[in-house]
Amino acid sequence: MSILHPDENKGNYYRELWTKYVGRGQQTYTPSQIVVDKAQGVYLWTIDGRKLTDFTSGVLVSNLGYAHPKFETKFKEYYKQLPRNTYNMITPVQVEASKRLIESFGYSKAQKILWAASGSEGIQKAMWSALHRYPKRHIIVATRHGFHGKKGLAADVTGDTSPNPNVRWISFPMGEGYEQDFYEKELNQLWDTHKEKIALLITEPYLGAKGSYHPPKWYHQLLQHWCNEHDIPFIFDEVQSCFGRTGNMYAFQTYGVEPDLVVLGKGMASGEPASAVVGREDLIESLDYGEASDTFSGGSSACCAVCATMDVFEEDKIVEHVKKTQGKLQDILMKLKQEFPFIIDVRGEGFVYGVDCITAEIANKCVLEAYYGTGKEGIHFLGPLAKKVIRVSPPLIINEEELDHAYQLLVSAWKRI
Ligand SMILES: Cc1ncc(COP(=O)(O)O)c(C=O)c1O
Repeated sequence: MSILHPDENKGNYYRELWTKYVGRGQQTYTPSQIVVDKAQGVYLWTIDGRKLTDFTSGVLVSNLGYAHPKFETKFKEYYKQLPRNTYNMITPVQVEASKRLIESFGYSKAQKILWAASGSEGIQKAMWSALHRYPKRHIIVATRHGFHGKKGLAADVTGDTSPNPNVRWISFPMGEGYEQDFYEKELNQLWDTHKEKIALLITEPYLGAKGSYHPPKWYHQLLQHWCNEHDIPFIFDEVQSCFGRTGNMYAFQTYGVEPDLVVLGKGMASGEPASAVVGREDLIESLDYGEASDTFSGGSSACCAVCATMDVFEEDKIVEHVKKTQGKLQDILMKLKQEFPFIIDVRGEGFVYGVDCITAEIANKCVLEAYYGTGKEGIHFLGPLAKKVIRVSPPLIINEEELDHAYQLLVSAWKRI
């Protein structure tokens, strides 16, 4: 059964055809199922002519908004005359993107890069690097309730159970208020049990997909310290957080750590499929010729998009803009929490928040009513995370007036709930 909306004849036409031809597993469930005709800046226009402020950035991908004029021009300039597939070729732009990404880290362990075409593939390549570097170690440590992807090893370390018998879980702070020694004890027990058999530790800066749980800074510093002490590679999954989301270019800066391997994705290429692992040479070079190769990874279009994105970040001072504007986003979300008792918590940092609702039903209604908005205008959200948490992750270029306007739209829409 297709999702249909009143007074959306064109949209409903495409929704019905989509349901007819495309497997529903292709997308996660979002009650609005927006049909987009065009996109510009922080706005999406539906095929029926309604204007929506985007509060998703796709899925934290379009950090520069849509059809960003400078990005589009630079992307085309970089791409001029290059082959679309660069398998076993090198183009100058691939070298430039690799060098710029490594240098953007600003710490000595950022030495080499491996490219991939999706976040989960990047995670897989990072984990392979550690496992190949230490072939006699087989235990994989992951923080509980993370999301690293749906495929392969990335899926093995997602959630809190694993089909992989080598995975061991440790706790991630989710507002329980435990002190540092609680986590220290778990880590020490793990070391006492497995010692030199531990191949790696993988974590996320914050639990995004689980509903926005952002830990205290000392948590990641503790994990890093334990890894350093026992010579265990510390892998930081920045697929979602990279390129400005937390108010710094990278979340490792926000949390004050220098991981051995960092996995980047999503926003790094403004919509072109790109991800990458950046980190220690001895880990990355443990993979021999071809062991991390595939058809599309690190191709010319991805690298052009990375360079164009980095140009815009530098020239337009995107991170500074986030630092300046993040307080406004937090204010409007806190005001919404005060206004609507069905919001039980607001968690986040920078430009990524979760609005935790009292039930899944209410959270879905919030998404739908925001979509309907005032009729002509509305707000675009994805379906709730962890059943009842609405993620707020607007493009990083949004300004204070646009945020105020979005707030007014949400107040009028959510009064109907
Ligand atoms: C933190 C994190 N890691 C990994 C992934 C997987 O990325 P992809 O969907 O590109 O495979 C995601 C995607 O949402 C993510 O948020």
